[in-house]
Amino acid sequence: MPFTSRTEIPEKDRTDLGNISKMFPYIWAFKSRVVFALLFLIIAKLATVAVPILLKEIVDSLNSEKTLLILPLGLLIAYGSLRLTTAFFNELRDILFAKVRYHAVYKISVKVLDHLHKMSLRFHLEKQTGSIVRDLERGTQSLSSLINYMMFIILPTIIEVLLVGAILLATYDINFTLIIFSTIVIYVLFTLKVTNWRMNFRHDMNRLDSESSSIAVDSLLNYETVKYFNNEQYEIKRYSDVLFKWENAAMQSMTTMSLLNFGQAIIITIGVTFIMIFASSGVVDGSMTLGDLVLVNALMLQLFVPLNTLGIVYRQIIYALADMNMLLKLLDKDIEIVDKKDAQELVVKSGNIKFQNVSFSYNNNRSILKNISLDIPAGKKIAIVGPSGAGKSTIGRLLFRFYNSNEGSILIDDQNIIDCSQYSLHKNIAVVPQDTVLFNESIFFNIQYADNTSTKEDVIKAATLANIHHFIDSLPEKYDTIVGERGLKLSGGEKQRIAIARAVLKKPKIILFDEATSSLDSKSESKILNSMDTISKNITSLVIAHRLSTIKDAYNIYVLDNGKIIESGNHDYLLSTKGLYSQMWSLQKEPSE
Ligand SMILES: Nc1ncnc2c1ncn2[C@@H]1O[C@H](COP(=O)(O)OP(=O)(O)OP(=O)(O)O)[C@@H](O)[C@H]1O
Ligand SMILES: [Mg+2]
Repeated sequence: MPFTSRTEIPEKDRTDLGNISKMFPYIWAFKSRVVFALLFLIIAKLATVAVPILLKEIVDSLNSEKTLLILPLGLLIAYGSLRLTTAFFNELRDILFAKVRYHAVYKISVKVLDHLHKMSLRFHLEKQTGSIVRDLERGTQSLSSLINYMMFIILPTIIEVLLVGAILLATYDINFTLIIFSTIVIYVLFTLKVTNWRMNFRHDMNRLDSESSSIAVDSLLNYETVKYFNNEQYEIKRYSDVLFKWENAAMQSMTTMSLLNFGQAIIITIGVTFIMIFASSGVVDGSMTLGDLVLVNALMLQLFVPLNTLGIVYRQIIYALADMNMLLKLLDKDIEIVDKKDAQELVVKSGNIKFQNVSFSYNNNRSILKNISLDIPAGKKIAIVGPSGAGKSTIGRLLFRFYNSNEGSILIDDQNIIDCSQYSLHKNIAVVPQDTVLFNESIFFNIQYADNTSTKEDVIKAATLANIHHFIDSLPEKYDTIVGERGLKLSGGEKQRIAIARAVLKKPKIILFDEATSSLDSKSESKILNSMDTISKNITSLVIAHRLSTIKDAYNIYVLDNGKIIESGNHDYLLSTKGLYSQMWSLQKEPSE
């Protein structure tokens, strides 16, 4: 299910009115445009309603015996101009309002993406990218259509209904007004009731739609895995099962729509018939002229044209509200890692790191790090080793504050990272992650990503340090080579070296290598290790490694097992204690000696 997570705080319940009011600031950003658009809307509607009145005058003047042969030219010209006025002011309103509408869509899309980037890693690991993208698209689209419907259909119709009501009430028998209004009330109630019932089908459709695209995206992202296990049919089946349910929901939605449409037609027909009966009998008994009959008829027909679409529009609005609800829920999701109000800028002078009794669990039910204390002196190389799953990468994630620790504190140069802004923290730490993912852009773009003010020379320098420049230079397109989605066109080792180059370019005070050379052969690795020593000369480097030969020279080595530090010291000391480290060391040495 999209957006559901056990750990993120549940969304607040929202109402449609609440949703709409949330949108209001986006629209109100262009006050004068909105006000003028409304004004033009009213002018256009006044002209629209005046058309049947003029028609009545024309009919009556043609029908009167005295002026039988005189063409009411003035009236006819006025009739034409009124129609033009309607069209003119409608267009003017559209032009004015387009900016409001599109700007709102633009603003909210940007805001949502910004929000998504502020959400925690936890949220992003649990979300389905495919569904989020769909929800984002549908949500912003819904904003545009909502504004559209409100401004171009609902409001004008309400104005028209009121105007027509006023004219009828002022000129004719109260019965006309009563019939028109009760028809409208019945019509609206019927539409609301049936539409609310139909909403379930639409919700099912939306949910299944998101689900299917998330399956499709996921299966495409895992293209290679799908092939490795011959699971094309399995993936297609998962996809088609969901789509089959979607088809059923869509069919139910369509069938019930016809039901609704027909019901609406019945209500309108009954209303119009009654009006015509009253008007005709008025003409017969002489209380109304032929012109009056034409006027009432024209007003009714004119009124029910938008009212007829009101049914469709109401449905669309409800759906748009549902889509928008998704989007707003997303915006309402609490951000897990927030800067304190009075967050300080982290100032890293020397780069000393302390973990003080840090405990952490991703989910409350399984503790991952248990009472970890590390003291990492500035400018030194410190290693963390230990079995897979021990929690090594987790230590890095806490240092970068992807998660807050449950207990204990992490200090950098005696400043608790909880009290510092995330921006300043992130600025000072470079990470070469265990699994490097690259943007589907050029190699240059990917390295320069660390600092987009850096020059080509800086990039080449960083690439040279990471021992990758030579390789890049040998490519036909050199630095302009596009790396493929997630960097898949490069080998594992090449990607790792690009990640190292990119980290170098960041010129951090603290650098974290998480298995940064695991995909390299020994020769390239030792070359990089040399460069790494140069790179990290005056910076604190935290190296997570499986291959112990790479960290043998570290100032201090922490051995992590099952979330606990069980040994620490330098290589020689750890060998002498004959603990886990020395066991791992002898296991790794065996094949080569
Ligand atoms: N987002 C997460 N949610 C829940 N559990 C997680 C999450 N990330 C990691 N874990 C669990 O936390 C434990 C420690 O993971 P971590 O990635 O720190 O291990 P590691 O020591 O780096 O292992 P490796 O050497 O294999 O990279 C693992 O058992 C893992 O399953
Ligand atoms: Mg790891």
